[in-house]
Amino acid sequence: MRSKSTRKDRKDLIITGTISMVLARAVLAGLIALLAHPSVAQHESVISTVHNLSISGPGEIRSLTERQVCKFCHVPHNATVPQPLWGHAISRAQYQVPSIRTGRTRQPAPQPDGSSRLCLSCHDGTIALGEVAGEPTPIAMAGAVRLTPGRRGFIGTDLSGSHPISFRLSDVEQAAPDESDMGLRALSAIQADPEVQLDAEGKMQCTTCHDPHSDRFYVEGQVPRFWVKPTVDDVCLTCHALR
Ligand code: HEC
Ligand code: HEC
Ligand code: HEC
Ligand code: HEC
Repeated sequence: MRSKSTRKDRKDLIITGTISMVLARAVLAGLIALLAHPSVAQHESVISTVHNLSISGPGEIRSLTERQVCKFCHVPHNATVPQPLWGHAISRAQYQVPSIRTGRTRQPAPQPDGSSRLCLSCHDGTIALGEVAGEPTPIAMAGAVRLTPGRRGFIGTDLSGSHPISFRLSDVEQAAPDESDMGLRALSAIQADPEVQLDAEGKMQCTTCHDPHSDRFYVEGQVPRFWVKPTVDDVCLTCHALR
């Protein structure tokens, strides 16, 4: 019995390893395809958004010299985080976090991890936007060297007034329901939504509500940038049933 489960564990490990390799290859293939055919990815892609920080970017903040679009977030070599070939310097900040409900008590939410950590490497304002792996000095930027208070993109390191992130939905679901969860839906219903996504560990992250590659739903004053659905409520209602 024991040897059987060991064999299974090893198999799982191999499968997980293979999946990360496949994913790493997919990122690399995406990067290579883009470099080879920049026009292919022009529509509905990061290129037309304020996340294009290259010289061709549409936003106020962009490089004066750098032509590669993906490079500010992904590099083919010397990645700072292997998954998804992350190219931007990572912040070492400690964050103030909101509390989450576990059982009858409340606890601080975990420190941001996963893709949220990647977003915060620019959005917490502690790291220069041009600080990219493999560059001897930060890439020179017009508009702002780093995000600072007063800029729309500035989130800072105090997340205590923000929606909790980086917690497992299943941890909260197992807790006793109360008034403060705004009618949390069943985990299976949440997981069934293809647009409002939890990460591979079942955690809510910045990417549950925002898609860093696409800004197709943005409407000034109504729908936030990089939103994953046509309206704000559409996203909230995936998880919260208003009572
Ligand atoms: C502003 C930052 C940013 C830029 C610029 C960016 N990405 Fe990403 N990318 C991310 C983040 C963050 C993730 C991780 C998403 C997740 O874990 O859900 C990611 C993940 C990916 C993945 C893994 C699959 C996925 O979608 O999660 C691929 C492939 C990818 N990016 C390709 C690209 C290509 C090609 C470009 C250039 C056209 C690009 N990205 C530009 C932030 C960026
Ligand atoms: C992926 C699921 C998910 C999405 C999407 C989501 N939430 Fe939540 N939300 C949760 C969970 C889980 C909690 C409960 C945390 C806890 O129990 O403390 C929560 C808690 C809250 C709380 C209570 C915070 C507290 O202090 O108890 C509010 C308010 C809230 N969400 C509003 C929103 C709004 C507004 C949106 C849309 C912009 C949204 N949520 C989108 C899952 C989600
Ligand atoms: C390489 C740096 C970088 C990374 C990484 C990054 N962003 Fe951004 N993001 C920016 C910049 C620069 C802007 C423009 C901000 C400004 O003009 O104030 C921006 C703008 C935004 C905006 C729009 C702000 C507004 O209302 O004008 C949102 C939302 C956003 N980012 C979310 C994310 C999320 C979510 C992630 C991770 C999945 C992420 N970003 C990763 C650099 C980055
Ligand atoms: C529960 C969904 C949700 C999650 C999770 C979430 N955001 Fe947002 N975000 C929003 C909404 C809604 C707005 C628009 C708020 C407004 O207009 O007042 C927004 C706005 C923003 C803005 C524009 C500045 C602002 O404050 O209006 C940035 C930048 C941003 N988010 C980045 C992030 C980053 C980085 C993370 C992860 C650390 C994240 N978001 C996680 C829902 C979310």
